[in-house]
Amino acid sequence: MATPTKAIFFRHLFPSKLENWERFGWYKKMREESPIHFDEQAGAWDLFLFDDVEWLLKEASLFSSERPTLEGDVRSLLSLDPPKHTQLRAIVNKAFTPRELEMWRPRIQTLVTKLLDDLKGKDTVDIIRDFAYPLPVIVIADILGVPYEDMDKFKEWSDILVEGPKSMTAEAVESLLTEKLAKQKEMYAYFDEIIAQKRKNPQEDLISVIISAEVDGAKLADNEIRAFCKLLLAAGNETTTNLIGNGMYCLLEDRSIFERVNKEPDLIPGAIEETLRFRSPVQAINRFAKQDIELRGHSIKKGQEVVGWIGSANRDETHFLYADTFDPARQQNKHLAFGKGIHFCLGAPLARLEAALAMPELINRFPDMRLPENLQLEPIVSGFVYGLKSLPVQI
Ligand code: HEM
Repeated sequence: MATPTKAIFFRHLFPSKLENWERFGWYKKMREESPIHFDEQAGAWDLFLFDDVEWLLKEASLFSSERPTLEGDVRSLLSLDPPKHTQLRAIVNKAFTPRELEMWRPRIQTLVTKLLDDLKGKDTVDIIRDFAYPLPVIVIADILGVPYEDMDKFKEWSDILVEGPKSMTAEAVESLLTEKLAKQKEMYAYFDEIIAQKRKNPQEDLISVIISAEVDGAKLADNEIRAFCKLLLAAGNETTTNLIGNGMYCLLEDRSIFERVNKEPDLIPGAIEETLRFRSPVQAINRFAKQDIELRGHSIKKGQEVVGWIGSANRDETHFLYADTFDPARQQNKHLAFGKGIHFCLGAPLARLEAALAMPELINRFPDMRLPENLQLEPIVSGFVYGLKSLPVQI
């Protein structure tokens, strides 16, 4: 078995029970039988109820986000606690407000049109590989101010960053860690060059904003800037790809929903929110107890890892009527797909904007779109990211 630190590093990436696409039956069973569960093998708590997951994410004074990091790495926003978290978040907050993002609308619209134009004349397209993958990478590359010609490298890096080991044996964990470190080195060398260029010649982009920002009168160190770049690249890519991919899958799984949304495009914003709830692109988030905590008769010890199963919380029947039904017209939909509290997803308005421009255009262009018979789904192997490697459709 892997050493405890390494096992914990991967715990959230590879809960062994979650290799399948239809994991929702297991969540339901856990909500009914053991909603606050201690996983002996992983040495971590699992929370499955909406209220408990929301509480975990909101109570930043009880639970720390300081996750184990790869060797030689500094923590990014996502894995920091206040006050450092608050200071770093303030630097990038402004770039991601819905108002600021409106500026990007025409550019994203043009990209959507271009990517779909490139698919003209085909009988089958892969919604993920041909469309939902390149779109967010190009958008985030533009926002950061890095050339999107390097897109293939970004894909390689962000894939490996979220990947879990094939098994929890010491060899599998060790070999993936080695691979992750090698790719990370490559990525950091790339960003170091970009940072040096922008320091000499600042532009209007987000990396230039981060370089010039000050925290307590001091500029950020290069390794902190790199950590920011890595986070924005990784956090925004796979997740948004999966929102669009999972969303189209939800519409096509029961094709009457596709037809309904095609006839009533006003339902699309509801369909996007419902995808976030029903097939949440991030299924789990972990924290570490800052002190001993009692939770309805269970004793969580200081330092223990606690995993909040967002994917289960979003199917909790006590919060969502007919939770296992995909309903684009759902009225009450306060899901936890983007988290809650101080770490609430910075990129939520961007992800929503990209999906809101992408999905109607996909439906418009390909009104006869359907899933092929005998489609073999190939889910991404990762405990916290939930999506498909590819989604071929007939058009
Ligand atoms: C945080 C989900 C898209 C950047 C988070 C968190 C979740 C999440 C659940 C909270 C993590 C925690 O509490 O520990 C998603 C989903 C997305 C998405 C489902 C797409 C559908 C994006 C995009 C970006 C982004 C497009 C940026 C380009 C971030 C950052 C954080 C974050 C920087 C850390 C915020 C903090 O710690 O204060 N995201 N995300 N995300 N997300 Fe997203």
